[in-house]
Amino acid sequence: ETLRERSLAAVAEHIKSGKARRIVVMTGAGISTAAGIPDFRSPETGLYANLAKLNLPRPEAVFDLPFFRTNPKPFYVLAKDLYPGNFHPTVSHVFISLLAKKGLLHQLFTQNIDCLERAAGIPSELIVEAHGSFATQRCIECRTPYPDDLMREHVSRAQVPRCIRGPTECDGFVKPDIVFFHEALPTLFYDRKDLVDHADLALVLGTSLQVHPFAGLPEYVREGVPRVLFNMERVGSLGSLADDVLELGDCDGGIRKLADELGWSDELEAEWRK
Ligand code: OAD
Repeated sequence: ETLRERSLAAVAEHIKSGKARRIVVMTGAGISTAAGIPDFRSPETGLYANLAKLNLPRPEAVFDLPFFRTNPKPFYVLAKDLYPGNFHPTVSHVFISLLAKKGLLHQLFTQNIDCLERAAGIPSELIVEAHGSFATQRCIECRTPYPDDLMREHVSRAQVPRCIRGPTECDGFVKPDIVFFHEALPTLFYDRKDLVDHADLALVLGTSLQVHPFAGLPEYVREGVPRVLFNMERVGSLGSLADDVLELGDCDGGIRKLADELGWSDELEAEWRK
């Protein structure tokens, strides 16, 4: 076993002793709920529990490509609430950017599409947006990119944008470059997923680990390398190995505890207030 005990204090010692220089972080919607963005699967507050008004065959249909092709409107009703712009990074995002600043972040794998990692100042070369993002968009038929300003206008009115090539040339629906069900993940995900294998510490934050292939990432962590879960609930296989540490509860609270153990509290709070 690598850690003295299964605690955040022991994780902090592991970092402070210089044994963790290649930290891999894996995140999901739970790290953005404190910013006011709903997650997907929380029973009362999650998006999937609140989609009844959209009359979907099932909640996940809102992110389903075949469904979008026939009925893109529900997605745009939702996009209005999810579209990045007015959200501030959370303590958890800022902590990850501190890791980067200290040269300890090997790679961040996020499932989030809210662009808050970039907003927190994490260098883009250290981020894999496994499910894409709202940063760019294109026609789902001919793949022609669509301008950002027009996209913002449509989203703010919950209108469905159509291909800029026009009705006679294409007229396909435009979709942000977020990964829908039945779509492949960005090639970057497959190119970088081996980096998990180099990790000397893995942090998993705010994800239910229900969606594959992302959910398989924690399994690539080498044996004997500590995996720490910051989440409301226990998920995946986290907690089953000798060096797994479970910090159950809200992730910002858990991250603040770890920062405190590291002596990074002042720096974390100062960066977060910026
Ligand atoms: P989920 O909504 O499935 O899971 C969020 C997890 O975070 C749950 O385990 C919550 O209990 C936990 N959680 C919520 N708020 C938290 C907080 N403040 N602190 C700690 N934990 C908290 O979201 P994801 O795992 O990200 O795909 O979902 C994965 C994918 O499913 C998403 O990327 C999305 C969705 O379909 C696409 O949009 C393509």
